[in-house]
Amino acid sequence: MDYSLTLDAYLGGATPSLGQGSSVATVITCLASAAVELSELIAAGPLSGIDGRDSGTNSGGDRQIDIDVEANRLMCAALRKGPVAAIVSEETELPEILDSGAGLCVAIDPLDGSANLANNISVGTIFSIRRRSRDALSTFFEPGTAQQAAGCFIYGPQTTLVLALEHSVDIFILDRRSREFVLIRRGVRIPSDTAEFAINMSNRRHWNAAVDAYIDHCLLGASGEYGEDFNMRWIGSLVAEAYRILMRGGVFLYPADARRNYHEGRLRLLYEAHPMALIMEWAGGAASTGRDRILDLSARMPHQRAPLIMGSARAVRDLNLLHQGVQPLYESSKAPLFARRGLFL
Ligand code: F6P
Repeated sequence: MDYSLTLDAYLGGATPSLGQGSSVATVITCLASAAVELSELIAAGPLSGIDGRDSGTNSGGDRQIDIDVEANRLMCAALRKGPVAAIVSEETELPEILDSGAGLCVAIDPLDGSANLANNISVGTIFSIRRRSRDALSTFFEPGTAQQAAGCFIYGPQTTLVLALEHSVDIFILDRRSREFVLIRRGVRIPSDTAEFAINMSNRRHWNAAVDAYIDHCLLGASGEYGEDFNMRWIGSLVAEAYRILMRGGVFLYPADARRNYHEGRLRLLYEAHPMALIMEWAGGAASTGRDRILDLSARMPHQRAPLIMGSARAVRDLNLLHQGVQPLYESSKAPLFARRGLFL
């Protein structure tokens, strides 16, 4: 493959199918320019004045460091230049309404896994783009199937963009000399079988019986149910785990568990689980809570959490089967309760 197709040229080529003067393409371009700046800040670390200073707490009560605040500023400033009606950001408690007549709404996690930066581990920006429905706010409470596009920038040894657009998952790398993203893989497909799992094993005592049984089967290796010796990985950085799965298959689990505040897992539906599920499905994989397909879920509130099991289709199917007959730790969030109960529930 010759590596000469820039993101701009790619989006230009996609424009006929996306619609004339595509607003989705414009938003992706805005995000990419912010990601170039963010990538430079992250790479320079303390040399750019970013030294991991504590900057309070975010919408979900997680500690915020200086780079979280800066990432949010950069990404939201970029989105304000695009045809965006509203933004839900992990770092901001309330949705931001911009031009309520604009065509798109964006949910974003400006810097997922930022605590990993202290250890020089890959982190990323995750985004989900939807067409505005009747009003900007209610757009976010439609199921994940309403997403037009989704993706993530990964700031690691390379800065990459994983883009789910038009039912294809394509990968770009940042060429630091030209400061442009260049296409390196088109139509990524996740192998349907896997012998690799990723889960935070330290939470084992809190899992439900289905997750426990699945990991038991994996640990039994060739003598167990799945007849293969499994490998385990846990980076603690969602974007890095997703990239590994896209490259070589595997299954990632952040399940609901019995800890206080984990009855719907840890990850956020609108800007973590929904975009990851779109990427997985359009690459031939799957994503589920163990009971429901992630893309069928609707958020009840902007920062709602959801259990996330994603990756190779067969592993996700096995986990769905194991969940049948196991008592749920949480109530299904298929119904868009937001519409009935209000924003601050
Ligand atoms: O949501 C933030 C995040 O860092 C994800 O990127 C990652 O998958 C998860 O949290 C790790 O959680 P834990 O520290 O509980 O293993």
